[in-house]
Amino acid sequence: MSNLNPQTVTAVHHWTDTLFSFTCTRDPSFRFDSGQFTMVGLDVAGKPLMRAYSIASANYDEELEFFSIKVPDGPLTSRLQHLNCGDSVLIGKKPTGTLIVDNLLPGRVLWLLCTGTGLAPFMSVIRDLSVYDRYDQIVVVHGCRYTRELAYRDYITQTLPQHEYLGEEIRRKLIYYPTVTREPFLNMGRITDLIENGKLFTDTGLPVFSTERDRVMLCGSSAMLRDARALLDARGFEEGNQSVPGHYVVEKAFVS
Ligand code: A2P
Repeated sequence: MSNLNPQTVTAVHHWTDTLFSFTCTRDPSFRFDSGQFTMVGLDVAGKPLMRAYSIASANYDEELEFFSIKVPDGPLTSRLQHLNCGDSVLIGKKPTGTLIVDNLLPGRVLWLLCTGTGLAPFMSVIRDLSVYDRYDQIVVVHGCRYTRELAYRDYITQTLPQHEYLGEEIRRKLIYYPTVTREPFLNMGRITDLIENGKLFTDTGLPVFSTERDRVMLCGSSAMLRDARALLDARGFEEGNQSVPGHYVVEKAFVS
């Protein structure tokens, strides 16, 4: 288990019967870039049971935070959802991942498009002051089936704008656009449809995607990623990675 560190759970929050977040202690030597993921798991009968989880906390926070679904028969999440404060979790020592701003070409608007727990890495990104230095505008677009699944909504709209250090930049630059597909809500429709029909741009007051100005990070289900990727490719956007920065980057929201 030399590549894993045991850490202690410090808080657990259940958003719905299918979604929860938890925080745990952080090894002082654990460093990560906003948007990266690491392995998270439990010791089950003497063996580590691990899955990839995006880190939701800011890279300067003392603790680590994760946002997860609860899969009733999922080997790990069926156990993780019963975590309590004081329990031990295993955290991988080597964070990695493509959803980092260094993998993007310089641009003016950063779009963070996500569904479900795909919001997790973006909770880290929007709490990183250096991201605000790079962009004029940062837009979080979170798509869920139901309003109750819009986790972190109050935190983003109420708490973050009052944040001691980030508040001013957040108030100036961050746009939060939640959208729901299976019940009436302020904004309705799949993210991909809202891009195609232009409603996302009308509602946010921003121009339609252009490769000169816009940079996109995608995180969510495989189906959403496939369709969003096709839509960006059709508009001339090129995917970036560690060696060649591009107009957009993609990561699957892992645990399903
Ligand atoms: P929908 O309700 O129309 O399926 P899920 O919980 O299945 O991962 O879905 C989360 C959100 O992502 C839902 O609002 C869902 O819409 C939406 N979604 C599912 N598939 C796609 C897709 N291919 N492109 C865009 N959004 C999608």
